[in-house]
Amino acid sequence: MTLRIGDIAPDFTAETTNGTIRLHEFIGDSWVFFFSHPADFTPVCTTEMGRTAQLASEFEKRNTKPLGLSTDTVGEHIQWIRDVNETQHTNLTFPIIADPDFAVAKLYGMIHPGESETAPVRSVFIIDPNKKIRLTMTYPMTIGRNFDEILRVIDALQTSDAKKVAMPADWRPGADVIIPLSVSSEEAKTAYPQGFQELKPYLRMTKIV
Ligand code: BEZ
Repeated sequence: MTLRIGDIAPDFTAETTNGTIRLHEFIGDSWVFFFSHPADFTPVCTTEMGRTAQLASEFEKRNTKPLGLSTDTVGEHIQWIRDVNETQHTNLTFPIIADPDFAVAKLYGMIHPGESETAPVRSVFIIDPNKKIRLTMTYPMTIGRNFDEILRVIDALQTSDAKKVAMPADWRPGADVIIPLSVSSEEAKTAYPQGFQELKPYLRMTKIV
């Protein structure tokens, strides 16, 4: 199944290291950073799980719950979490789905047979409180993800929603933003009372207030 931005995240029930969850119930009123990794007891995955755990307060500030997945079992996840905590100097508390029959991995298109028939690649789904998929990202098995970018894109999505603006390349909180094309320059005068700079009729920058 190919899931696309704008799709409702397919619901499922799964066993995790924190008990059974149903995805839509787990999402509740939060955002979710749902990510797969190829296997427990592997080096790149160990650093990614550690980094996610270290960033717990950053995810919490953004009302975002991390949710991991691999095709290993809950028992294996629990043993491995001890190694993650020991080597990455952290305390991993977010749930990791056990998906030994590949049910969720297949539902979310996380198995890429050119990489592996049984292990998921490094997929990311950012899901909003309306259960909508807002961003997807796929990394190969040998390359760890950039967690600065994951936090940045959550900030960008949440700011874009709240302020009705678009984000330029490399946007970071505090930087200027773009007035969407759907807003005419006449409308922009009232919609953005802080003012804006019109570099081109299609490229108008403003500040977040
Ligand atoms: C890793 O996490 O290091 C890894 C996992 C599966 C395949 C290759 C690398």
